[in-house]
Parts: sequence; C-alpha cells; structure tokens
Amino acid sequence: MLTNQDLEQIVDTSDEWITSRTGIKERRISDPATPSSVLATKAAERALEMAGLQGIDLDQIVIGTVTGDRTFPSTACIVQDRIGATRAHAFDISAACAGFLYGLSVGRSAIESGVADTVLVIGVETLSRIVNWTDRNTCVLFGDAAGAVVLRSTGAPGGILATRLHSDGSLVHLLEMPAGGSLMPPSHETVAQRLHTIHMSGNDVFKHAVRAMESVALEALEAAGRKPEDLSLLVPHQANYRIIDATARRLGLPMEKVFVNLDRYGNTSAASIPLALDEANRGGRIRKGDLVEMVTFGGGFTWAAAVVEW
Ligand code: ACO
Repeated sequence: MLTNQDLEQIVDTSDEWITSRTGIKERRISDPATPSSVLATKAAERALEMAGLQGIDLDQIVIGTVTGDRTFPSTACIVQDRIGATRAHAFDISAACAGFLYGLSVGRSAIESGVADTVLVIGVETLSRIVNWTDRNTCVLFGDAAGAVVLRSTGAPGGILATRLHSDGSLVHLLEMPAGGSLMPPSHETVAQRLHTIHMSGNDVFKHAVRAMESVALEALEAAGRKPEDLSLLVPHQANYRIIDATARRLGLPMEKVFVNLDRYGNTSAASIPLALDEANRGGRIRKGDLVEMVTFGGGFTWAAAVVEW
C-alpha cells in the first residue's frame, strides 16, 4: 500500500492536494514478483469460484490491459494456461481505462453470435510499472489491481441489456506512453527521457471525461430503454472523485447511487470497474434485479458504458 503521506516523501506534494483534487488516499502497488498475469489469475480464480465454474468450462478469455506482462504474447494466453482453460481462445484488448467495458461488449457479442458460451472478462493493470515516480502530476493518481467477471447465457431475461463504445484517435497525445512500440522502439535515449511512462494532460482529459461519460451513459440507457432514475447503482471508472461527482450531477443521480472506492485504490485503469463492481456486489450494494450502469473514459481516447440488469 502507498499512502498520500508516503508520496509526500517521494515528490513535492501533500495529502491535502491529492485528497482535494482527486479523492485518492492510498493505492496498491504490486511487488516486482507480481506482474499483471499474477493479479489477473487471482481475479480469474475468484470469479470462477463465485460462478461455480472451472477453467475448463471457458470458451473465451478477454483481458483489457495496457500493462500486460509483455507486448506479446497476450497476458490472456498466460492466464489461460494458469487456470487450465484449455478449451478457450484468449486475447488482450488495448483500450486503456475502457479496456474492461470493451471486453465486456466483445464477450457479450461472442455469446450472442455463438462463438462462445462462457466468457471470462478481466481488467488488470500494473500501472506502477509505467508511472514516472518523479512526476507529481501523474504518480499520485495510479495504482495496481485486477478484477474479473464470467459471462454466460442463461436464456433468462435481464443480464447485459446494452453496451456502447466510442473512440477518438485525434486526441492520442493527451494521454499516452510515447515509447516502447514501433513508433519509438526502446533505446537508451527513450529510457533516459522517461518516455516509457504515462504522459498526461490531466486538465484536458478531465474536461473530455466528464462530457463523454455523461453522453455515453445516457446513450447506453436509451439503448436499454431505461432512464437515469431507473438506476439502482452507477459504477463509474474510478479516476477522480470530481469527475465522478460531475458525471453523477449531469445524470441527476444522488451520490448514494454511485459507487466510489478510488480513495483506497487510485486510478487502476482497466481494472477499476471490475474491482468496484466486485466490492459493490460482495458488499451487498447490488441485489438481484437491480439496474446497474458502468461507465468509463480513458486514453485513446476511448469511452464506453454498459447497462446490466443484475
Ligand atoms: N501535488 C501538488 N501539486 C500538484 C500535483 C501534486 N501531486 N500535481 C499537479 N500539481 C500542481 C500543478 O503543477 C499545477 O500547478 P501550477 O498551477 O503552479 O502549474 C496545479 O497543481 C494545478 O494543476 P492542474 O493539472 O490544473 O490540476 P487539476 O485540478 O486539473 O487536477 C488532475 C489534476 C487530478 C490530474 C485532474 O486533471 C484529473 O484527474 N484529470 C483526469 C485524469 C483521468 O481521468 N485520467 C483518466 C484516464 S487514465 C488512463 O487512461 C490510464
């Protein structure tokens, strides 16, 4: 665990600044022996246990991540082996903070089209590995985590009612890791210039995030034939309390209907929604029949929402 007080020893910041600007108090940092695949495997095992299934029951494994173990092969293939999902095909999705909801939509489509019966969708990040620990603008924001869900068609009404996905590649420069790919392969210079870390124009991201999260949340609700007031719980991407608060206000939702746990984990990108969903579920905040909406925004830009009848 890394607290705001710990960060005060690393960069020129304060608990007061971080808390008032973001709502974050602490975040989890995985140790060097725990790459994304280890966190993802743990989340997968817990999701399978809750679903009463085993790895062998899976047809598809989708992982949303931008911090996989390696550029290739996919982290999903590593998890497939670890959980004995020998029947499943497995792949990663790169959609930054929208990775989990993109994965949820892909998994749902696979079931609807008959490609798969049972799908494991994971969001995992070890963002601590790509944070510039000398940059106070970004290093206070992020944490490491994993979360997972199992999707399966039961034929009963409800489940995932609608998903909506969007991207805008004209704004890549506002949130990126510049080096490490084919554009700028690793070199002594890229390492010296810390180009293998998160570069973000926080204020611009903030403004785009609030507008996009409101519009995609409404769009997905409309596609599901529902209204904001029908929601039992909104589970937003946990980037910044002020973004969540502004989104809730625009949707006319009281904060009692909004799940927030970023104070303890920070922004865990693709992991943040499944992590929040699991805590909300295990904590009794979601009951059978509840209407739940998840909504997110991230690098790319990418943004997405999903409406679920639990
Ligand atoms: N401690 C103290 N001061 C700081 C810190 C810090 N940790 N970080 C920045 N500051 C200073 C800045 O230097 C600046 O000082 P200046 O005015 O003297 O230049 C001042 O605080 C204000 O900076 P802003 O960037 O304007 O602060 P803002 O209120 O916008 O908050 C934040 C910054 C928290 C980053 C906010 O913009 C934000 O949350 N943005 C969205 C991030 C996000 O949602 N990302 C989502 C996707 S992440 C992904 O896809 C991986």
